[in-house]
Amino acid sequence: MARRPVVLVATASLLVGLVPATAIADDHDRGGAPPSPGAPGIGDPYFPLDGNGGYDVEHYDLDLGYDPATDVLSGSATVEAQATQALSAFDLDFVGPTVEAVTVDGRPATWVRADGELTVTPERPLRDDREFEVTVTYSGVPATIQAPLIGSSGFIHTDDGALALGQPDVAAHWFPANDHPLDDATFAVSLTVPEGLEGVSNGALEDVRTQDGRTTWSWQTREPMAPYLATMAVGDFEIEEYEAGGLRFWDAVDPDAAATPPPTEPGAPPGEPVSVVDQVRASFARQPEVLDFLSGHFGPYPFQTAGGVVDAVPELRFALETQTRPVYSPAFFTDPVLADSTLVHEYAHQWYGNSVRLAAWQHVWLNEGFATYAEWLWQEQEGVSTAQQTFDAVYGNAPPEFWQVVIGDPGPEALFDIAVYYRGAMTLHALRQVIGNTAFSQVLEEWAASRAGEAVTTDEFTALAEELSGRDLDDFFEAWLFTPARPPLG
Ligand code: TRP
Ligand code: ZN
Repeated sequence: MARRPVVLVATASLLVGLVPATAIADDHDRGGAPPSPGAPGIGDPYFPLDGNGGYDVEHYDLDLGYDPATDVLSGSATVEAQATQALSAFDLDFVGPTVEAVTVDGRPATWVRADGELTVTPERPLRDDREFEVTVTYSGVPATIQAPLIGSSGFIHTDDGALALGQPDVAAHWFPANDHPLDDATFAVSLTVPEGLEGVSNGALEDVRTQDGRTTWSWQTREPMAPYLATMAVGDFEIEEYEAGGLRFWDAVDPDAAATPPPTEPGAPPGEPVSVVDQVRASFARQPEVLDFLSGHFGPYPFQTAGGVVDAVPELRFALETQTRPVYSPAFFTDPVLADSTLVHEYAHQWYGNSVRLAAWQHVWLNEGFATYAEWLWQEQEGVSTAQQTFDAVYGNAPPEFWQVVIGDPGPEALFDIAVYYRGAMTLHALRQVIGNTAFSQVLEEWAASRAGEAVTTDEFTALAEELSGRDLDDFFEAWLFTPARPPLG
């Protein structure tokens, strides 16, 4: 498999002082606590500054222009939120371009920026439960993230445009956000680009309008999503819209997508990149079949739209499960089995990761283990190898370091370690051996159905497996998820 382990660099540094709270008589009279600043983080121990406290976002309205000639992203983000405490000030996560103005409910607000936090002080405090709208106007060249194993993510400037994607906390590179999966929201994304280029995002394409040499592409996601699952791609794309199996698909394929095929013999020099557009088309044509296959195992597809994006970005090494419309590196399309399996992986995340989302990043195996196991199931039905064969191969051949990773609590540095993927999938396969096919299928479906739209933890999953199988699985999960050693086979 081409999916490599990834080391994430934790960037959280010390907090800066927040604007002091000014109590207002109003709030005391209502009997609530006096207004105070919302917390600068949502409470994830791995990423203390990710997300924020004191409010819940309901909707993001991003109205952005991008010009490839200058790489400048400019526009406004309106965040509709509800206070969960009386707020004298609150934070948004934003490491993006220069902020030009901030308003709260249309009134000018003051702000300061430090360490990825945009701290907004409204003219008057916001009482608990109050719905409010904050608009941030900004302009500048967003930053790309470089990590040794993962390559480029964040906001990637391409030869003909830009591509924004990444996890765990990359949304803040291109829009001000409550950048943690605990706070999901609906999205409207409008991308204004030079006429002749396409602008692609999540959900449904609602409108395309050209005026004065610029085209505005307006997308809407009606089902709530975590901010890191939002994407934007600007460039030369062939966009295809169609309906299949009751779903609307939008595919965006860069006609220049190319990749270097793997050497035919070990040690042979790498060849030249070749176009992968035909393989992309062949794999994308199988999307309805893939979703059908996954629905058979997991229950109905949780969203109303689907599709995929392939952009010609040589430095992008990964795919990401951006909601309703995963983005793929061209590198996956040098081989049909790898290509189709990667589609299966990213689509499986729509159930496990996107619809059922993480309450904290510690539980990441609930995303990656499930998506990897979906690949194994697909490869079995495709006649490539059975899930048991894949399990046996990893069990027998994985090096000692692999078994050192405690996937139930891998730590921020090993969040996307290969063990989170493979040992995660093995945990599910081993669970299936212990509780039997019937109970196992029930667990997968029930997990997707009963927790759709919710944020979950590993404990909740193990409790569901125990409940539906009627077994005590404490020792089993302790060995597979929380022990730095190869688990014994039952
Ligand atoms: N979750 C992605 C997958 O499994 C992999 C991934 C991790 C990734 N971090 C990323 C992709 C950052 C793009 C950018 O398919
Ligand atoms: Zn994944």
